[in-house]
Amino acid sequence: MLSMLTLRALRAADRPSLERLLRDAGNFSEAEVAVGVEVIDAGLRPGQEDYNFVVAEEDGAVLGYACWGKANLSDGTWDLYWVAVDPRGRGRGIGRMLVEHCEEAVREARGRSLLVETSSRAGYEGTLAFYRALNYEVLARFRGYYTADDDKIVLGKYFSF
Ligand SMILES: CC(C)(COP(=O)(O)OP(=O)(O)OC[C@H]1O[C@@H](n2cnc3c(N)ncnc32)[C@H](O)[C@@H]1OP(=O)(O)O)[C@@H](O)C(=O)NCCC(=O)NCCS
Repeated sequence: MLSMLTLRALRAADRPSLERLLRDAGNFSEAEVAVGVEVIDAGLRPGQEDYNFVVAEEDGAVLGYACWGKANLSDGTWDLYWVAVDPRGRGRGIGRMLVEHCEEAVREARGRSLLVETSSRAGYEGTLAFYRALNYEVLARFRGYYTADDDKIVLGKYFSF
């Protein structure tokens, strides 16, 4: 049978799979996993509009997800809060599909930019390479932000109409 990868909306039943995915990702600390799960719970609250989710599923298995939302007090700046792909699904373009889905939604909402924050610590080199491959540029670097030797790196992409 042919495998079928689909992108779909977040469902309450995804919570355990997404929590496992965050744990298995390999580079998230327990604190980051906890925040990731809080954001998933916020995304599952009926009627909320702050957190948008897209989930990648193949043959009933959740292989990845992304979460994005409009930056508070901005009229067109959006944040990519989270993107994660199960290690077993990596290198197949799923991360790219998820981020391109977010970009499309931001463009449709007449958003001007999509920003993403990441860390300079070991284990995040692949993440930086991923965003660069998707044409995100480093816009700012906050030295010693997370810990004395872990910088916050803000990357982004600007859209034109
Ligand atoms: C970063 C991550 C989402 C990439 O997902 P993925 O599905 O493997 O990525 P894709 O297959 O869509 O790759 C897209 C592009 O990025 C590049 N890329 C992805 N991971 C890479 C890596 N580790 N090193 C170098 N390049 C990489 C690919 O070569 C590809 O380039 P191309 O399209 O020009 O050929 C995934 O590795 C992950 O979940 N990492 C852990 C969680 C994380 O760090 N999330 C982001 C911070 S919130």
